Amino acid sequence: MFWYHEQTKHTYESVRTHPNYLDWESQPSTYKNYPDTYPKRRLDLEKKEDHFLYHIAGLTAKKSYPGVEYYLRTNPSAGALYPNELYFQARGIEEVEDGIYHYEVSTHSITLLAPISAKEGLEPYLGYDVAMQGYLFLASAVYYRSSWKYKNRAFRYCLLDAGHLLGSIEAAALLKPHAVQMRYILDRKKLNLMFGFEKREWFLSGAVMAVPIKDQKVQAIEFSLPFVDASGTFEPNFLIERAYTETMHPIGCKKAIQAPKFTYQTSKLQETIFTRRSQREFKGGAITKGQFHYIIEAITQPVLSDCDEEVSVYAVLNRVLDMPLGIHKDDTFIKYGDFAKEAGYLCLEQYSLAQQGAVTFFLTSKGKNYQALYQKAGIIGHRLYIASLYLGIGCSGIGAYYDDEVNTFVGNDEMVLYALAIGK
Ligand SMILES: Cc1cc2nc3c(=O)[nH]c(=O)nc-3n(C[C@H](O)[C@H](O)[C@H](O)COP(=O)(O)O)c2cc1C
Repeated sequence: MFWYHEQTKHTYESVRTHPNYLDWESQPSTYKNYPDTYPKRRLDLEKKEDHFLYHIAGLTAKKSYPGVEYYLRTNPSAGALYPNELYFQARGIEEVEDGIYHYEVSTHSITLLAPISAKEGLEPYLGYDVAMQGYLFLASAVYYRSSWKYKNRAFRYCLLDAGHLLGSIEAAALLKPHAVQMRYILDRKKLNLMFGFEKREWFLSGAVMAVPIKDQKVQAIEFSLPFVDASGTFEPNFLIERAYTETMHPIGCKKAIQAPKFTYQTSKLQETIFTRRSQREFKGGAITKGQFHYIIEAITQPVLSDCDEEVSVYAVLNRVLDMPLGIHKDDTFIKYGDFAKEAGYLCLEQYSLAQQGAVTFFLTSKGKNYQALYQKAGIIGHRLYIASLYLGIGCSGIGAYYDDEVNTFVGNDEMVLYALAIGK
């Protein structure tokens, strides 16, 4: 098991002996804004491409508590800390000038960071030697936004949240419709340097929604962007830095070339993406057997990727009509019984989600490429949100669980990556 994962496990004792005290004075910002000297264009929802981009990472709700106001987005995030930033190259897209952009969430704008030419672009950094017509997305993490709260465990959340962002790209692309391929083999070192990240922000992955332009060879573009403070406050975390550096270069990657198939109706899917929220608690309502199978079908579709890792999906059935209670994996039950309370306990006693829900999920992997396998868990998590909400069923990600006890519960010794619950 990767040492970082081992060292960041929660146990019954650890969460009681190291409770997280938050220093609200040093709360980092969740937005990155380039200076106004860069050309910026506000997204216009009447325009097809802008509409698509907005559905990936736009602000869709505002929450207010006395003294605090914050916005929620199309993509979920552990603790609403949003550690990820989104960049993209657009080439040959109507209404979007060719170039390399940053998606500025706070103002619904895209910032042009660098122009590209027919002979130069980001393609070689993602492993292509010809020009790609369409979008090349890049997801990064400003890790302090998350480590401010989650300390050493934050790298896990940066990866899960990045997976959700990739899942958001996949879901928004279905509106077009267009397939998206995830890329983990990237020249992270060079890209981090060119984008001026200075060890505070790192690229984690790419997502390609583009087709090769035959015979149009491209060179790797070179530029040097200034450092732009993306968190306001910052404290280095050397454990996380080491975990990132050691997982920068994927090894022995296996490509996944089979495209996923989804059966969503476009306008209903669009509404689902736009209104997606996390359920704060479940009331103990059941879902039907048909709904359960529809959801399992959607989340177990292949994920197109240049570095696919196997992620196991365990479903603890608490309330599914006409189905027995128990733990379900790959179309069969591995254990029968009422485990609702135990599922609630395993998720750090979040009983209102994991016990009261209809189904609690645990995702595990014994893969080698940590960044790729963790982000895949986030993508599957995002598919779970979308498929459930599409059917009018609530969903919540659960990043906190007792790692080793989940292993004993599901009967494996893999890395436990993520838990989620769905229900009513
Ligand atoms: C990786 C991840 C882990 C999460 N873990 C929890 C959790 O343990 N408990 C919880 O109540 N919500 C959890 N959430 C839900 C977030 O709190 C929620 O996404 C965030 O507040 C934004 O709200 P929204 O999803 O409604 O837009 C998690 C979300 C993600 C993506």
